[in-house]
Amino acid sequence: MDGNTVYSAVQPSGNLTIGNYVGSIRNWLALQEDHNCFFAMANMHAITVRQDPAELRRRTLELAALYLACGLDPEKCTLYVQSQVPQHAELMWVLNTVTYVGEMERMTQFKDKSARHADNINMGLMDYPVLMAADILLYQTDLVPVGQDQTQHVEIARDIAVRFNNRFGETFTVPRALIMKQGAKIASLQDPARKMSKSDENPNACVFMTDDRETVLRKFKRAVTDSGSEIRFAPAEKGGISNLLTIYAAFTGKTVEEAEKDFAGKGYGEFKLAVGEAVADGLAPIQAERARILQEKEYLRGVLAAGAERAFKAARKTLSKVYRKVGFYQGE
Ligand code: TRP
Repeated sequence: MDGNTVYSAVQPSGNLTIGNYVGSIRNWLALQEDHNCFFAMANMHAITVRQDPAELRRRTLELAALYLACGLDPEKCTLYVQSQVPQHAELMWVLNTVTYVGEMERMTQFKDKSARHADNINMGLMDYPVLMAADILLYQTDLVPVGQDQTQHVEIARDIAVRFNNRFGETFTVPRALIMKQGAKIASLQDPARKMSKSDENPNACVFMTDDRETVLRKFKRAVTDSGSEIRFAPAEKGGISNLLTIYAAFTGKTVEEAEKDFAGKGYGEFKLAVGEAVADGLAPIQAERARILQEKEYLRGVLAAGAERAFKAARKTLSKVYRKVGFYQGE
């Protein structure tokens, strides 16, 4: 079916924020209903910066549990751990030979990460986009739902696909990025001009999916507003209030206009408390479900094993085609 295959992945490093939830997880939930979706825990990408091994393993499972708790349904999508499907690394090797060092050196994320990890500019960091291209191309992906910061990587995956197809004949579907619009931009609670980021130095700037009720309420109480008193959606002049309205709407399922009406004539204090409560109420069942799934080790192991097997079958098909095209002997 044309346009039907969706691929995305997330690195199991660090906690997810409510920005990730509204901007990415919820879109995956919608996509699984009518697309052939593959969603991976990108642990191979994660080790391009130093990771504590025990923590990486733990976070991989926690992330899978969180996704399941949010409503990803293993009957409707393929949820798996990247390193459990060996074709990712195998395809990456072949794609490396049609990718130029110069184009990798120019990648924004490579330049940023090289600056931040100057003592660890490893080959994997540079090869990161080629591994990501392998992820995407292995499944003959049509659509890649990603945040704005990953669009350059999807562009490179497209370039690599087109280049390979030109050189060896039609092999890969050329993917395109699906940029999240609605609610994609949840801003920092401390500086509405900036994106909510898990690595913000200010602990009040971001709300994690695992924050307890008290923490959530405290962070919203301290959220930056502005000197006016009106609760109105006007991102240019009222960045803080607009961000809170967006969050409230996302967690209550209301529109921003309805949210404005709910708070007409009310004060900032009452408003911030209500937003905090809406978020805490929304997170509570997800957190409980995540904890329950993490207890059920066999269930989780089974879901990931089944996911890896499904991914393996699809990946094997593409890799075999690639090996044939490039002239690799495959035993016959
Ligand atoms: N690089 C992506 C990120 O950090 C994660 C990722 C890995 C990915 N492989 C992917 C996203 C393939 C989309 C498609 O967000």
